[in-house]
Amino acid sequence: MFDALDPLPPDPILGVTAAFRRDTYPLKVDLGVGVYRDDRGITPVPLAVREAERALIAAQTSKTYVGPAGNLEFNERIVELALGPLTSRLGPRIATIQTVGGCGALRLGAELVRVANPEAVIHVSTPTWANHEPLVGSSGLRLERYPYYVAARRDVDFDAMHDHVNRLPAGAVVLLHGCCHNPTGADLEVEQWRALADVFERRGLLPFVDMAYQGFGDDFETDVTGLRVLVERVPQLLLALSCSKNFGLYRERAGALAVVARTAEAAAAVATHQARLARRMYSMPPDHGAAIVARLLADTALRRQWIDEVATMVTRMKSLRALLAERLAQRQPTRDFGWLTHQRGMFSLLGLDDAQLHELRERHHVYVPADGRMNVAGLSELNVDYVADAIASLTN
Ligand code: LMR
Repeated sequence: MFDALDPLPPDPILGVTAAFRRDTYPLKVDLGVGVYRDDRGITPVPLAVREAERALIAAQTSKTYVGPAGNLEFNERIVELALGPLTSRLGPRIATIQTVGGCGALRLGAELVRVANPEAVIHVSTPTWANHEPLVGSSGLRLERYPYYVAARRDVDFDAMHDHVNRLPAGAVVLLHGCCHNPTGADLEVEQWRALADVFERRGLLPFVDMAYQGFGDDFETDVTGLRVLVERVPQLLLALSCSKNFGLYRERAGALAVVARTAEAAAAVATHQARLARRMYSMPPDHGAAIVARLLADTALRRQWIDEVATMVTRMKSLRALLAERLAQRQPTRDFGWLTHQRGMFSLLGLDDAQLHELRERHHVYVPADGRMNVAGLSELNVDYVADAIASLTN
């Protein structure tokens, strides 16, 4: 059966971690996979999350099945974190299912679209996260790309994006990054979200918002401004939520897919399809991470503590951006590195070509994926000069 299978190349992001681990060079630097790191290089579990986990384990007396929709309290609370007061306004028009991380939400969302309309096309940004196309494309839906980023300005090419979206037919699905665009770090301004909301409403397009980094851009409210602008305007929307980064629950695979439907009846039907899709793929999601999140969000003190802890992470990422910009400017004083501090979240594109990226890894042992995305959380006071030297030597 399996003798004819050829081995596949390594995953474009996870393969970087494996290559980094194999490298024995003492000064090697990992700016690859998108995980937060503190100044010791550790990806911490926030203390509030650990406390919620301890309380959960102490109280849990059974591990019987939950159900395909997962932890219902989690579903409610995680959507409320993203949509705020809009949650109660929309009430029964929202159908939420707990998923296997944010990836599970993206895949389930695509499967749901295919059930509703197998001819639907999903439009993804250029560039986008390396796993977006494999995840949603494996549903069998056709994918197309919309322009998003202009490398020369290191910013969003909003006119091109707007023009493109403004020509899409009704029913087209547009996958958007809610905040902290992966891999560019270039986010839409609130006015641009408003202009997009106009187009989506007028042309009957379906936004599919991937919100994997709420809290990692500026704060938990600012980061969802664009999402909420859309939700207020469009009758239908898909929302993929992830608890990997902001709760530090990466391997627990906690996420959710929320669907805003036109009516409560439509949402009730969506919920049955979500459950059937999950049952047919993996039956039900893992409980542990979602149960921790539900407990934490229900506890006012823990919730406050966790928000503070995430704010500390954001401060660190912003200061690392500023530090790298400063160190690069020392080496290349005629160049402008303001884009580094303007961009948001963990990622920015280095803007290096394939040969430079090869050198970066082979000669300097600095690891990034092949698209040249850098995880700024992998920088530190200790390695920033080494990294700045490497980048400057390749771009002088
Ligand atoms: C990333 O973008 O590096 C993370 O979201 C991890 C992953 O699964 O690719």
